[in-house]
Amino acid sequence: MPRTIFAGTGYYVPDRVVTNRDLTQLMDTSDEWIVERTGIQERRWVDPGMTSAEMARRASLMALEEAGLEASAVDAIVLATLTPDVFFPGTGVFLQRALGLEGVPALDIRAQCSGFVYGLSVADAWIRCGQFRTILLVGVEIQSTGLDVSTQGRDLAVLFGDGAGAAVLTAGEDAGRGVLSTHIHADGRFAESLWAEASSSKKNPRISADDIAAGRHYPRMEGKEVFKHAVTRMPEAIHEALAANDLTTSDIDLLVPHQANLRISQMVQKRLGLEDRQVVNNIERYGNTTAATIPIALAEAIREGRLKRGDLLALVAFGSGFTWGSALVRW
Ligand code: ACO
Repeated sequence: MPRTIFAGTGYYVPDRVVTNRDLTQLMDTSDEWIVERTGIQERRWVDPGMTSAEMARRASLMALEEAGLEASAVDAIVLATLTPDVFFPGTGVFLQRALGLEGVPALDIRAQCSGFVYGLSVADAWIRCGQFRTILLVGVEIQSTGLDVSTQGRDLAVLFGDGAGAAVLTAGEDAGRGVLSTHIHADGRFAESLWAEASSSKKNPRISADDIAAGRHYPRMEGKEVFKHAVTRMPEAIHEALAANDLTTSDIDLLVPHQANLRISQMVQKRLGLEDRQVVNNIERYGNTTAATIPIALAEAIREGRLKRGDLLALVAFGSGFTWGSALVRW
């Protein structure tokens, strides 16, 4: 049975840097508050005209180049986002069109911060069962256009950034290498703990002046609830993955956690007993880019030489839904 290999990774973040100090011009907040509570120092926000599909295209081209493949080698696209360019169709088809991949299937995944791990789970199953051999997996997000940047929305507005990350996954025959397992979960009892209520197909029209006046089109979050579940579910998902592969935490060489909040990642690191050098954090520079955090962090870690052949890589995510999941990869 073929194994899923990460043949190339890539990322794109917008040029515009928004510092914590910049945010103090928009809302009542401070650099100290944001750094102390979240670890974030700056994030990237798009300029008008940029689209999710275009950021996805740029990240994908970098990943294809690293893989040494032309776009025409791609058999299928899996794209994770909670901020599609339009309500429908999904952003995957716009990426497919931009890459000139007529006829190639494009599947959008809606699993929020866990989107990349969910997408990896689907792509890995397709590759192992032989349905596709080369899959482009992308996580992309434009959060900045949907944030309440007034003081009322400051709890969420300071957290999020824009960006895209991509991986080219190929079928490999070396049993000692590739994705070992993926484990994904959800608990819809907490769907409203982190959500955006409008626009909604439950209503006609789907968004009204009332919705906008009440701010229902902005994301809302019960921050403490999310924090509490994230620091429990992420270590749990890693232990589940390790147990399924007869491995222990001491076998992990590198952990790439979803970048929700530096405090969450530090607590996960502590609970797993990992050293700083074993955990990738880049939230200081990018904030939380939702489905894009893991592929951006992974692409950067690879470029910094933090992974070598044979290493055990762990990916773990938690997000709105709630959804969560993990993956283990023998590099
Ligand atoms: N600047 C200044 N003050 C703020 C800000 C801000 N940006 N945001 C909130 N405050 C104020 C609040 O109004 C409150 O003031 P009050 O005490 O006068 O009422 C005070 O700071 C404390 O607010 P809390 O919400 O209790 O702050 P908390 O310590 O819980 O930290 C935070 C908030 C950072 C959001 C935290 O709950 C958290 O990290 N939650 C995890 C959620 C997360 O990371 N989500 C990311 C998206 S989901 C995902 O990717 C998993």
